[in-house]
Amino acid sequence: MKLSRGLLSLTACTSVYAAGPVPPQHFSSSQELESSTRFEIPTRYESAVLGRRILALTPLGVLSTVFPSASKDEESSNENRPAGLGGVPVGLMDYVADCEDSGDPTILAINIATSFKNVAAGSNISLALQWTPPHPPEKRIKSITSFLLSFLGKKEESERQDPVPYSAANLPRFSLIGYLEKVPTTPFLSGCFVKAHPDAKYWLPGNRIHESEFVRLVVQQIYWIGGFGDRAYIGWLDPADWKNITREDWENVKLPGEKKGWKEWSIAAEDWKDL
Ligand SMILES: *[C@@H]1O[C@H](CO)[C@@H](O)[C@H](O)[C@H]1NC(C)=O
Ligand SMILES: *[C@@H]1O[C@H](CO)[C@@H](O)[C@H](O)[C@H]1NC(C)=O
Repeated sequence: MKLSRGLLSLTACTSVYAAGPVPPQHFSSSQELESSTRFEIPTRYESAVLGRRILALTPLGVLSTVFPSASKDEESSNENRPAGLGGVPVGLMDYVADCEDSGDPTILAINIATSFKNVAAGSNISLALQWTPPHPPEKRIKSITSFLLSFLGKKEESERQDPVPYSAANLPRFSLIGYLEKVPTTPFLSGCFVKAHPDAKYWLPGNRIHESEFVRLVVQQIYWIGGFGDRAYIGWLDPADWKNITREDWENVKLPGEKKGWKEWSIAAEDWKDL
């Protein structure tokens, strides 16, 4: 497969980093590094494959919309929103599922929910997804405080559960920008959605609590931050790649921390090695 061959050469160039975590050199730009470290950084296409895997494995996202201006507001709202919020963005968690194999996420739109009301009033919409590794690294970057506390034997403090047990700044996240399109409810779609979100069975289209419908976010642009800029691609993905990637493609890659033994701040190629 094209991807794996690229990765073998990726891996071959990375032994210099094998000794341990390498501090990030760049946080926000991949551009200037392209000539010197190109082979260590997943390409834009490989990043799109990783993104499709994240979409497939991630059930929660944040929908961002903007509140309508006051005039539309008065016609359509009875929610006592404070004045002056027209055009202000609001991000709210929602359930998503990857049911169509097309890169366009499926969402169960509850008509009275703020995100969908804003869209009905003319807002644009984007969906932010982030990768949360199931297996944090065994060793992680420690603060001096936690090191001293463990040295002084203050177990309670030092062993308090780490709320983010990995360097989240070095993990992939992205935003899908597009528009919502109604999708007919079929047993397949309902089944797929409820498989990802068993509790959503109470809000399926036709339920007695809230009016709802299935929609797809038709993806038009993808903004991707793969991690630190010296080891991950940061920038716009090609929407044609996004749509063209198949299930087989994303089933053949691995994300950081999907398996035990992930090293924090390892460079991307090390995370792909076990393919
Ligand atoms: C939606 O985005 C388009 C650009 O794609 C922009 O022209 C339009 O004003 C936006 N609509 C709102 C309500 O912000
Ligand atoms: C989609 O992928 C197929 C096979 O991998 C390839 O032949 C085709 O050119 C691709 N299309 C686009 C728009 O990238």
